[in-house]
Amino acid sequence: MCSVVGYVGKRSCRSFILEGLRRLEYRGYDSAGFACLCPRDSRLLYAKAVGRLENLEKKLKKEPIDGYVGIGHTRWSTHGAVTEHNAHPHFDCNKTISIVHNGIIENCYALKRQLEEAGHVFFSATDTEVIAHQLEVLLLSHVTLKKAIIDLVNKLEGAYAFLVLMENYPDCIVLVRKRSPLCIGIGDDELFIASDPLAFAGNSSKVCFLPDESFAIVKADQIELYDFKGHALPIKVQELTIDWVNQERKGHEHFMLKEIYEQKEVIHATVDFLRQISNEVWQYMGITQETAQSLKSFNMIGCGTSYHAASIGKFFFEKITKIPAYVHLASEFRYMPFFPSENSVYLAVSQSGETADTLEAMRMLQTHHVPTVALTNVASSTMVREADGFLLTQAGYEIAVVSTKAFSAQLTVLYWLAHRLALEKGLINQQQMHMAQEDLLVVAQLLESCMENYRMDITHSVAKEYAQSQNFIFLGRHESYPFAQEAALKLKETAYRYALCYSAGELKHGPLALIDVKTPVFVFSSQDPLIYQKLLGNVQEVKVRGGHVVAFTFEHQKELQLLADRVFIIPDVKPLLGTIAMTGLMQLLVYEIAKELGRPIDKPRNLAKSVTVE
Ligand code: G6P
Repeated sequence: MCSVVGYVGKRSCRSFILEGLRRLEYRGYDSAGFACLCPRDSRLLYAKAVGRLENLEKKLKKEPIDGYVGIGHTRWSTHGAVTEHNAHPHFDCNKTISIVHNGIIENCYALKRQLEEAGHVFFSATDTEVIAHQLEVLLLSHVTLKKAIIDLVNKLEGAYAFLVLMENYPDCIVLVRKRSPLCIGIGDDELFIASDPLAFAGNSSKVCFLPDESFAIVKADQIELYDFKGHALPIKVQELTIDWVNQERKGHEHFMLKEIYEQKEVIHATVDFLRQISNEVWQYMGITQETAQSLKSFNMIGCGTSYHAASIGKFFFEKITKIPAYVHLASEFRYMPFFPSENSVYLAVSQSGETADTLEAMRMLQTHHVPTVALTNVASSTMVREADGFLLTQAGYEIAVVSTKAFSAQLTVLYWLAHRLALEKGLINQQQMHMAQEDLLVVAQLLESCMENYRMDITHSVAKEYAQSQNFIFLGRHESYPFAQEAALKLKETAYRYALCYSAGELKHGPLALIDVKTPVFVFSSQDPLIYQKLLGNVQEVKVRGGHVVAFTFEHQKELQLLADRVFIIPDVKPLLGTIAMTGLMQLLVYEIAKELGRPIDKPRNLAKSVTVE
């Protein structure tokens, strides 16, 4: 998704802005731009380039523009094709106002029509350019910049975070935030601005997150913060604890591989954290102990990988806590009729804590006064700030666009939480709670040893073989069905292969027609004896039709091992923890297939890490 970065201070801004954009490029983008004010005459200078940041850097080497105040952007196109014209920054008619913007201006077409009728000439197909022209109009009719911004935000509909740099206000930047994150890193007579504090981690240890629906007019040594009505707001400064050095690849070829290998550590860190907060967990979640005891159901919302983690988590809650759990795709849920479940809680599952659909679904729930809890990996995220309570996965920054370690960390929290709730309800005792935590540590070790057992085979032969296949079918049942969906998603995202995923029981209702020797069928087993038997039947259906079966199976499941053409054997593990044990192996196999195909693994085409627009 788009990222914005800005700087105002005593240093030259270009290097900081490019470095900030580089740190955020993992979020996905297709073009980039930079603007600054010339230190001599405050003229607006800018450069834009399509494609990677290197292209912008090359341009800036040829035309070395720089200044003490500047803004930068990486764009993930929504309105208008990927062209230099559509790359940010965007300008007013006279090119004295420049804007970089994340989000979407929903009423851009209506505003654009009015502005064009009034004689404004547009240079791009973006919604962002509307902001610049609208501000041009308002600055002519208002005496102060503050008044013009108040009027501007009243005219704009949608979700946005944008920065404004103007020739007529040469020592300041305006920041405007509605539903899209924006923060300021406070230095010594210098301010760092970004949509994600990772951009300035290490440069500043103090951060101010702009509240929702607020704007700031900042100079190197001054921050004025207002709500959309113009009332001054207090500036809340927090300690910034992340650092950039830890986000490097540490000898791995890709961030994805580094993150796959971090999972054992991540599960340990997550269990440690949960152990520490165990006594206050309901306080963290923003509910009382009584509410926890009386919960009659559990609801989860999410997108992408987080949705798959929640769908596996459903089995944890239903089997361990014995209450129904419902999982909703956030993008669907927010537009469906809403029937509040009595005595329930809604967990928004999101690695980033910023995904627009999940966030908006959470906000919709809040209008119905039902308890919302953010389960996220980013303590400073909007979801954490807005939910009634939160739980944090301890995965550390996840840089590869595709989610790996955040997924196993989410499963860890959900498994633990199901037990913690069962303990609260008197369904298990302290000893069982303790065992559940120990089991998570055991499965963390298995996740890693499964990868080690097959690493050589996968890298030397298996990945090469399956990289030849164009289409894949993925099957699972019960908790291994959402796991199969996650595996299929990983393959689509990183290897760009068609991967159809079905619950194995549905095979005979259509997908059997697709079985042929060229289409590998990946089957993920379950440790539940009944489900395993059913799955075995489904694999027979594939085999008798000449299909090629790749099975992820548990040690004791000899029949499946004999039936499949290729097997990955997972040591027997506590029921329900099988999916975590398989996670690393599945991700490693997909990673190696994508690598074999020469894909840009950490930044797949068309995808973004954190989808902050609808
Ligand atoms: C994007 C990412 C996925 C991620 C999904 C949900 O599509 O590419 O990897 O699973 O967003 O993100 P979240 O941050 O809410 O977990």
